[in-house]
Amino acid sequence: MKDFEFHNPVKIFFGKEQMVKISSLIPAGNKVMLIYGGGSIFKNGVYDKVKEALKGFSVTEFGGIEPNPYYETSMKAVKIIKEEKIDFILAAGGGSVIDATKFIAAAAVYENGDPWKILSENEAVKASLPFGTVLTLPATGTEMNKNSVISRKSTTEKFAFSSPYSYPQFSVLLPDAAGSLPRNQAANGVVDAFVHVIEQYLTYPVNAPIQDRFAEAILITLIEEGPKVYANPADYESMSNLMWSATMALNGLIMCGVPGDWSVHSIGHELTALHGIDHARTLAIVLPGLWKVLREEKSGKLLQYGQRVWNITSGSEEERINAAIEKTADFFESLGIKTRLSDYGVKQDTIDKIVRRFEERKWLALGDRGLTTPEVTRKALEFQL
Ligand code: NZQ
Ligand code: ZN
Repeated sequence: MKDFEFHNPVKIFFGKEQMVKISSLIPAGNKVMLIYGGGSIFKNGVYDKVKEALKGFSVTEFGGIEPNPYYETSMKAVKIIKEEKIDFILAAGGGSVIDATKFIAAAAVYENGDPWKILSENEAVKASLPFGTVLTLPATGTEMNKNSVISRKSTTEKFAFSSPYSYPQFSVLLPDAAGSLPRNQAANGVVDAFVHVIEQYLTYPVNAPIQDRFAEAILITLIEEGPKVYANPADYESMSNLMWSATMALNGLIMCGVPGDWSVHSIGHELTALHGIDHARTLAIVLPGLWKVLREEKSGKLLQYGQRVWNITSGSEEERINAAIEKTADFFESLGIKTRLSDYGVKQDTIDKIVRRFEERKWLALGDRGLTTPEVTRKALEFQL
């Protein structure tokens, strides 16, 4: 096992009756900005509950955060925060609303010019306004991590940042509110969480059995509960299991002491930036392709995954690896998530563009052991044409 440091300060409130607690978590007298997306919180009762919980606070609302949130929209909120001297932000919605809030909270106190540099130049975040979240969509894990992913409309770019200042102070997780999700969004959540686990687990063996078994437990739970949520997002019990799985998938726990490989996400972000494909769908395209290219380098973990997660115990090593890749793609497809670029109208020219971008940015060795070179990226995407 590698050395690691683990600290997660996010206070979690899970379930139907938890919203009332938020008023005691925000300092009395604070001016609060409530940030939300395109309006789902008005339909599922979350807006009313939040307003009730924030009674007694002065609240400024900022709606209209889009899926794959834009820098441009976020900067409009930053302007208002400065004008109105907002002290605390509350985000209510899915990963996009929460990610935008993380960026807005950091940008509002940024003192080194254009906050875009936090994303494009990896400039360290040194401070942030405090914020809390109300989660209505299980998928990203952002409610309990320090990451944020922001897109820039004008340049069709999508970048992530990560900072210890960007942990929410608290997150209220609402599986009942997630019951109003359309089935395709529920499926996205299952696949995003699944690939988060994979990117921390499916690297190479480092004798970290507790992390491996945590990871496998989350994967098996997603395989069992995912289809139930896809069939009926209002199934509260299954949605609860999905929501907690998605949080546990990316809150730092399973990445302790093990190598990570975030190259599926890096490639997937380009597909969203260039074609607007939902985040989870980009991962479902890229993952099988990358495994087909790196099957030998990842054979140890692919075989373990096949055996422990999918019960693949017979056949040669090559056949078992094939079966593990196939089972994974079939699982995504069973949730209505297509895994080929052609399913989304994406062609060779996009592959060329992504490879060129990676070369220009000197992203020449992504993933664990730097295995994902631009050439590997090209081959992985070509497998999925
Ligand atoms: O905007 P509203 O009206 O709220 O509608 C949203 C949006 O249209 C809707 N929705 C959310 N909760 C709902 C609901 N509709 C009905 N009922 C509900 N209860 O769902 C749509 C998608 O929402 P979005 O927030 O975009 O989805 P998700 O949570 O999947 O977030 C995706 C974003 O997170 C980033 C992705 O790149 C993408 O930008 N990620 C963030 C990560 C992180 N911070 O750690 C990690 C991930 O890998 C990911 O990259
Ligand atoms: Zn993701």
